[in-house]
Amino acid sequence: MGSPRDSGAGPGTGTGTGSGARVPPGLAGGRAAGYEFRAAADWAEFGAVLDLAYGGYPHSAAHSAVAGAVFEPKRSLVACRGGRVCATLAGYALEMTLPGGPAPVAGIGYVAVAPQHRRRGLMRELVRRALTALHEERAEPVAVLHSTEPGIYGRFGFGPASQVVGVSVPPEARGFAAGPETGGLVSDVGSPVDARAAVAEVYDACLAQRPGLVRRDDAWLRRAFEDRPEERHGAGRLLCMVASGAGGDARGYALYRLRANWERCAPRYALSVREVFARDPAAYAFLWRSLLDTDLAGAVGAAARPVDDPLLALLDDPRSAAPTVRDQLYARAVDLDRALAARTYSAPVEVVMEVRDAMCPWNAGRWRLAGGVDGAVCVRTGAAADLALTARELGAVLLGGGSLVQLGHAGLVTELRPGALRAASAAFRHDPAPFCSVAF
Ligand SMILES: CC(C)(COP(=O)(O)OP(=O)(O)OC[C@H]1O[C@@H](n2cnc3c(N)ncnc32)[C@H](O)[C@@H]1OP(=O)(O)O)[C@@H](O)C(=O)NCCC(=O)NCCS
Repeated sequence: MGSPRDSGAGPGTGTGTGSGARVPPGLAGGRAAGYEFRAAADWAEFGAVLDLAYGGYPHSAAHSAVAGAVFEPKRSLVACRGGRVCATLAGYALEMTLPGGPAPVAGIGYVAVAPQHRRRGLMRELVRRALTALHEERAEPVAVLHSTEPGIYGRFGFGPASQVVGVSVPPEARGFAAGPETGGLVSDVGSPVDARAAVAEVYDACLAQRPGLVRRDDAWLRRAFEDRPEERHGAGRLLCMVASGAGGDARGYALYRLRANWERCAPRYALSVREVFARDPAAYAFLWRSLLDTDLAGAVGAAARPVDDPLLALLDDPRSAAPTVRDQLYARAVDLDRALAARTYSAPVEVVMEVRDAMCPWNAGRWRLAGGVDGAVCVRTGAAADLALTARELGAVLLGGGSLVQLGHAGLVTELRPGALRAASAAFRHDPAPFCSVAF
């Protein structure tokens, strides 16, 4: 079904003299010539570029305190010219659930280039330096990011690794199919900050439930609670509903807000859900039932739920919720052998993959992956390849989402041994689907 395309368009260029990744011999000069690359000094340094790149980035002291608290300057890069910062890339050390358990993962965010410095290769050079540094330091084997536009990062070997579904449940479609017994659960609504301990306890208990979930310390929790007035769009403050059992034990919570709205003198408030986590199906159903039954509410919506959210199974009429699927997290193997050995597989797998990777050339070549539900090893091999693919396609299935069969049918993965595609696809896929809970 055709051969896979290459994931990169050749090596990046640069003349960096700072503390970013080393410039390989022969690659100095070129499109990013004339710029200095170095580690970031602090979060404040990103401000001017983000302001220009995103058309007015909030500079409030409150937001700077929240974003600055999770910022890791030593992992973050800037490109400068004439002493001024022109481009930024933030790096984060995260712990993410992969199929099989938690693993260290490198988060990348705030990739931004001031408009007057665009299309000169600065983004490419920042990404290349960040990935090369992770490789040379044998740091996190997997890199992940959220992308403002889906077309940007495939060329750098990042594949769409998780999807989300947006829903909007209208008042007339709130009926539930027979769900779990929710008697005995009670809800309490207030400020997320007051519910901090319950939220942290429930979230931590849910971490192992899905690939893609990221551990949150105090600073990341403050980030999850951030309630910037400019993001409310006329809605009220962020609220937290905690579901507790008879003994007062926190079993689940929802973060949401309400925006006043009246139609023909009738209340049709918009209720938008930011986050829902529950320890068990009863608490999950109870929270959604309570959100859907909120007085004054018209449509109850959520912009980003897991693609296999149980809510869609609970609703009598999921079609009316107009589920809309989109890409969410992008992932790539920094070091292919370590990345594939960092997770487990849903079925026994033994496959030789011929991988093309222009951005991280140390990954290119033939690899044998052998493993199953208890773990895996991945080593270089001279054996004949069963599958041929690029780093982008591998990234798309790294967290257990995506489908090698689908990518094969699209002509993006080539099956070289009959049966290898289907077998590898079943092994890579994970149930439940990956979903990332943290914006970075
Ligand atoms: C997106 C952005 C970072 C690109 O920076 P840049 O320095 O102009 O990018 P580069 O010159 O390194 O481009 C590298 C490649 O990406 C492509 N590219 C750049 N921006 C792109 C976009 N928005 N969509 C698709 N491709 C894009 C370039 O065409 C180039 O392609 P090629 O080398 O394969 O031919 C910059 O336009 C920006 O700051 N945009 C606003 C903020 C934003 O959206 N950031 C992304 C956050 S995830």
